[in-house]
Amino acid sequence: MTRGLTEVYLRDQRVWDSCALVYEDRIVGGHPDVTAYECFEEDLLDRVLLYLARECGRTVRLYDVGCGSGRLHLRYGMKIADAASLSPPESDRVRAARHGNPAYMFDPLLAERLVSVGGVDFSAQMLDIAREKLQAAGLSHLLGSRLTFDQGSAFDLAPMDAEPLPLVVCVCNSIGVMQGRAGAVELFKSVRRAIEKAGGIAVISAYRLDAVESFALGNYESTMDVCGQPRWLVPDTYASDSFLQVPRDYKRAYDTGSSIVVDVYNGEFSTGKSGHVLKRDSKAVQIVVETGHIQTYSDYESYWYSFDQFEEWTSDYWPADESYHIAGADLDSLRAEPVQLAILDPTGLLRQLMNRWKFQAVENRGSGE
Ligand SMILES: C[S@@+](CC[C@H](N)C(=O)[O-])C[C@H]1O[C@@H](n2cnc3c(N)ncnc32)[C@H](O)[C@@H]1O
Repeated sequence: MTRGLTEVYLRDQRVWDSCALVYEDRIVGGHPDVTAYECFEEDLLDRVLLYLARECGRTVRLYDVGCGSGRLHLRYGMKIADAASLSPPESDRVRAARHGNPAYMFDPLLAERLVSVGGVDFSAQMLDIAREKLQAAGLSHLLGSRLTFDQGSAFDLAPMDAEPLPLVVCVCNSIGVMQGRAGAVELFKSVRRAIEKAGGIAVISAYRLDAVESFALGNYESTMDVCGQPRWLVPDTYASDSFLQVPRDYKRAYDTGSSIVVDVYNGEFSTGKSGHVLKRDSKAVQIVVETGHIQTYSDYESYWYSFDQFEEWTSDYWPADESYHIAGADLDSLRAEPVQLAILDPTGLLRQLMNRWKFQAVENRGSGE
């Protein structure tokens, strides 16, 4: 990493450590449009895993880059945990976690073929939350064996073994919070390094620049208690870390409201001001819509990259004819409208599935160096 990238990396690591708990509450379990995006990704991964396990007869190692609080660990840990072979209290916890959640039901095929779910994240706090979540769901018996976490950098992935087949994913626009364009390039190179020799698969799922106005503005405004007050909102009276501003509701996609009402709390969580109104500054909004660069007063930064930018990265850093760049809406216009996917498939394992979905590998790629 260059010195500049290292500095931003260390700053972002602090930011993510400090927002870990609320992130879990308000984003992972919260905003309906984010939940829709996550459900789309999970259904997509289910399909890819089913295809690899059943139609290709492969055993798979799923590895989540920027895994945060272990959303995918929990989902696939539940699918591979056989409650019948466990004793109380683990078995009771697994059953309780499954109650009312069909996605967490035991899946005998995955139990056999999904050998492990690993992940890396630079935030120790995020990984602590992930482990606690898995323990609470009765998955302690899989922790450290079939469910693993590495604390470290997304940019340092080592080449993986060919068996089980590595499926490396970076989901929920994690690329957008990985230290700007320099970090995004490192990620493209890093996932390629991890899977290429093994003939594995990499998937990067991200938001798109052209969805900033319709999705991002309302999304960040209504989760500002997690990441801080967006810089396009005024006034900044309570924007410092001494206050917590809790929005009164979630702004959904295409909300055109130019203001949002928040309740302000001071450090001890006693009410500071109820019904405080924040308004959009139109010039600042215009810049965010044009650049996709989201910034808050808590040093949080995220990028929603353009479709062209992703196309360029896939072409510059991934090999010719072995990758796909897909508009989310072409797969699922209800849940993935603001999304784009870059998929690297060096041995053509996914070709049949992609043909079924009517996607072609992008041709005329660069050398990938
Ligand atoms: C948007 S969250 C997504 C978390 C998780 N993938 C999910 O879908 O719920 C992004 C995660 O990336 C992590 N992160 C950001 N930059 C990173 C880097 N350079 N190396 C490792 N993790 C990083 C953050 O700590 C955070 O947990």
